[in-house]
Amino acid sequence: MCGIVGAVAERNVQGILLEGLKRLEYRGYDSAGMAVLTSEGRLQRRRALGKVAALEERLMDEPLPGHSGIAHTRWATHGRPSELNAHPHQSGERLAVVHNGIIENHESLRRELEAEGYAFTSETDTEVIAHLLERESRRAGDLLTAVRRVLDQLNGAYALGVIHADEPGVVIGARKGSPLVVGVGIDEAFLASDSLALLQVTDRFIYLQEGDAVRLSAGGRIEVFDDEGTAVERAVQTFEHGDGAASKGDYRHFMLKEIHEQPAVIAAALEGRLGERSALVESFGPEAETLFRQVRQIHIVACGTSYHAGMVARYWLERYAGVPVQVEVASEYRYRQVVVPEGTLFVTLSQSGETADTLAALRFARERGYLASLAICNVPGSSLVRESDLTLMTQAGPEIGVASTKAFTTQLTALMLLTLALGKVKGLGEGVQSDLVSALRCLPDLVARVLKLDPAIERLSTAFAEKHHALFLGRGAHFPIALEGALKLKEISYIHAEAYPAGELKHGPLALVDSEMPVISVAPNDELLDKLKSNLQEVRARGGELFVFADEDVGLQEAEGIRVIHLPHVHEALAPILYTLPLQLLSYHVAVLKGTDVDQPRNLAKSVTVE
Ligand code: G6P
Repeated sequence: MCGIVGAVAERNVQGILLEGLKRLEYRGYDSAGMAVLTSEGRLQRRRALGKVAALEERLMDEPLPGHSGIAHTRWATHGRPSELNAHPHQSGERLAVVHNGIIENHESLRRELEAEGYAFTSETDTEVIAHLLERESRRAGDLLTAVRRVLDQLNGAYALGVIHADEPGVVIGARKGSPLVVGVGIDEAFLASDSLALLQVTDRFIYLQEGDAVRLSAGGRIEVFDDEGTAVERAVQTFEHGDGAASKGDYRHFMLKEIHEQPAVIAAALEGRLGERSALVESFGPEAETLFRQVRQIHIVACGTSYHAGMVARYWLERYAGVPVQVEVASEYRYRQVVVPEGTLFVTLSQSGETADTLAALRFARERGYLASLAICNVPGSSLVRESDLTLMTQAGPEIGVASTKAFTTQLTALMLLTLALGKVKGLGEGVQSDLVSALRCLPDLVARVLKLDPAIERLSTAFAEKHHALFLGRGAHFPIALEGALKLKEISYIHAEAYPAGELKHGPLALVDSEMPVISVAPNDELLDKLKSNLQEVRARGGELFVFADEDVGLQEAEGIRVIHLPHVHEALAPILYTLPLQLLSYHVAVLKGTDVDQPRNLAKSVTVE
């Protein structure tokens, strides 16, 4: 959840580390810090409470020139946000460490170290690593050995970056349970928790594997060691998306940019995966067809927005592929005695591929006799992708805004491809397949048309700025879309929002409806439309103000207390994708009106790599 950057170069590394931190702020932003070894071999550190900009200001007054260094942006887990708790942490004046993740046995280690006379200055679990390193580096001959001995004493999930004044020009990295990549430069080398942080300096990366440690040294030397300590070669991969992804371009926020990228990325998610009249099953891997034939049910596991995508997919997979589906949040699934019937496919959905609960669920599932695991993910080389049998990349490109937008609609697109691929091997009618394929081909254009409704949605948003609560309603596959709409609104505008299947309204939430409770509903032209219309009347009858996103053909017109925005007609099955967009735009504009931090909402992080 925190962000780590490290660099060893002939040039001054301060700028590289700072830029890296800015690009990693999506992972956490309550404090930031940097430590470098100066040319005289002195360890120097600067830290600041708040965003990376606060650290940048400090560095203007007190720069940190040097050729090797580490830096960190924090999302607090152990210890409140404060300068003292900010990383890097030191033990004495000669070594510094940055850390992402959680050390589960930090309390016992802390007691042991305190008994030996080590004085703690922070409330973090990370500081035990610094003191352990101090102890071990006095015993071991070199920093890498010291780091490896410390790793043996740690329980939990982590990624580390370490420097020591005894070894100028060296940065050590290690990972277990949290992501860490090495950036391969020309005569220079870098470390980061996400390749995005380093795209300014390289597009070539080594994705470290579980238990790996790495030693970066002068001249761009990179030595990787596996969990046994054996030197290993890891492939260098080239990043394909280009660096444009890491800037806002002409948009005011990353979130708005990413909303507007949806026509292009949905097209990218479909590219090369559709035949003339059916989906190409081999998009899921060469063994997919044989495996899909054996699938009798599916368990989908994910977190947050990705979980909502899974909920939509359940409606699709059951209807078109005729396969029973269970969908569950990963944090619950991983601690349950799951019953796995024969022929069950395990599917994980994740933008980052590094969400701790989803990864743990995959590892738990591997022991449970599933037919195979499939990851639908946006980050190539991520842990989830590497550890799954089958993968389908969502092709959304880097997503920076904490509130997920394009990652969600591309996940839905990928899940519709899965529905079609499974449907094909399970005998779904050719006409149905071909209709869905044609509808998918039109989807990017329809999405672009919906984005043109932005000014109207912006006008609508003024009705929400002063509200404290909102209720979202949907039926069928649009219930998860209502959940996603409510999640977006609460994440970035801090308005309390709930979502209900519209048919449940009368069983409780109707009691909340009055003129202060805006009710947002999605009303595509599907078989549940008439039932939804009656539910909306129930709201109007209680004075609730309605905001309806409706198909242009359903004949819903504005009236007193009912605001309507019409969407273009779309194939019923794909409506959940299209109806997501106005809800994203609505939350965005409400958040802008409220003046919240749209891309980095309080208390949240883009990628939750701790449990
Ligand atoms: C965090 C993010 C959410 C995201 C969830 C799952 O909570 O703030 O936007 O949906 O993690 O992340 P994943 O990368 O696994 O999709």
